[in-house]
Amino acid sequence: MSTIYELTVEAVEAGDVITYHPVRLANALGITDVNRLAIEVNTALSKALVTIYPHDPLAQVILGDPQMLVMDDRGRIYIGRYHNGRPSLLRLYDPASGSAQRLLLFGTTGAGKSTAGQIILAAMKRSGIAVIYGDLKGGQSAPEAYGQTGHGSDGNVAWRVTTQEGVMAQLRTTWLTMMDRQERYSRMGRSKFLKDRPDPLIYQIIDEANRLLEKGAPYRDEATFYIKDIGRTGRSLGVGIGLFAQAGHLEEMGGSDTLRAMLKEGEVILLRWTSSMMKQLVTDGLLPAGMVLSPIPKYAGEVDLVSQFDEEHDDDDLPGTQGTAYNVNGRYPSSKMRFWNIGSAMPTEGLDPMILDLYGPGAPAEIEEAAWDLIGDAYGQRLDGIEAYRAMFPEPEEDEDGEGGGGGGRKKKSGGGIRAASPVPASMPTESKPRSRTIRDRVQAVLDAHDDPLDALQILELVNADGDRPVKLGSVRNALTTLKG
Ligand SMILES: Nc1ncnc2c1ncn2[C@@H]1O[C@H](COP(=O)(O)OP(=O)(O)OP(=O)(O)O)[C@@H](O)[C@H]1O
Ligand SMILES: [Mg+2]
Repeated sequence: MSTIYELTVEAVEAGDVITYHPVRLANALGITDVNRLAIEVNTALSKALVTIYPHDPLAQVILGDPQMLVMDDRGRIYIGRYHNGRPSLLRLYDPASGSAQRLLLFGTTGAGKSTAGQIILAAMKRSGIAVIYGDLKGGQSAPEAYGQTGHGSDGNVAWRVTTQEGVMAQLRTTWLTMMDRQERYSRMGRSKFLKDRPDPLIYQIIDEANRLLEKGAPYRDEATFYIKDIGRTGRSLGVGIGLFAQAGHLEEMGGSDTLRAMLKEGEVILLRWTSSMMKQLVTDGLLPAGMVLSPIPKYAGEVDLVSQFDEEHDDDDLPGTQGTAYNVNGRYPSSKMRFWNIGSAMPTEGLDPMILDLYGPGAPAEIEEAAWDLIGDAYGQRLDGIEAYRAMFPEPEEDEDGEGGGGGGRKKKSGGGIRAASPVPASMPTESKPRSRTIRDRVQAVLDAHDDPLDALQILELVNADGDRPVKLGSVRNALTTLKG
């Protein structure tokens, strides 16, 4: 039998609200597997729709063709579906206002954040969006989201890093790109971002963002500044931001109310949570007040008691619910959706060919050439780690007469002009040697070797003649500002 039953429930009196407990409701209806029930309520909580399925309707959510991931003309991507087969859509761009979005993907460990993330990243590649991706799990989260090695090269994202220093370099790069657009667009007399005319939509994505923003994290304050500013200013410049995190750990989300307020306006997707996480999300206002969401169990199917004397019992694993979520800003916020079930059934050695297929072949969209000079080498050479960090945050020189505050590179508030050097946190790992000399060292060497005054272009030429890796004018300028006493 495959009959589907649909019940409409209404509050008895005006002003009454419907509350429910899915397990109790299932019990009352004589249903042993709560996943066969879908319960949706309207925002006023005065009406509910209860659908009873013969089987878990979200057990198999298959993406027919990766081409379906391409963003539609209203700026939305198709990330999965609801119990009733309707598409679950995530907005990346609003063509009417020309704005990029802020994305938040929350869930406890193993809930499916990184896998959902791969669906989003693949959709971004297919939609011509330039993705700057940081994976703070050392590159384990989404190995198929490998980055380009340089301009025009093959890759599934434009730039991937796997360290906190790399993410900081990315944040500053994204921020500089945004500043460059602001200046260029205002010169063009343009008030709105128009996708691909001429610049691509850009997204800065950080997986395991909690590691960057949690208390005691080495770059917490600086990261908060950049994320906040990109979130605030990037919208209308075609620069979006996406954070994937275990929300419970974001307790003080960079310790900033502004950041929290900004994220509240974002597109929130909530995967399986823990009770402490839910409390946090509600207190932080990340979920609309009064929103009732029935919990997502860890396993699908009937969880029954088994006596130790029951010898017939087969110990089959229950299917998991990974990728099941609430798309809080979607069309049906109180209805469970499930992300596409992606990847090979069995883990593969190396990159999963089925996930690679999602991205499709070829080079991804990149940050526009107009910004390359300004943003410099960390992006140009797709650096990571301390090398990327040093390229973007050259250490300020201590004054010769000792007036440099005694702590060259100590923590101080960032956010100055475009080329101002930003702070190097006190906890910066100074022992770890960069693979090669920093650009600042090389510029210094050129200056030391020449008594005559040199302009930036001459310095650039001399630095590039020193046999080390090639650098851009922007990086030389960046280094010069920190070398001036
Ligand atoms: N949409 C999906 N399709 C297929 N498998 C999935 C999906 N989502 C999650 N999984 C499975 O669940 C496992 C855990 O998912 P994932 O690594 O994405 O979770 P996570 O929330 O990022 O966890 P962590 O906190 O450990 O980083 C994956 O290895 C995968 O096997
Ligand atoms: Mg993960």
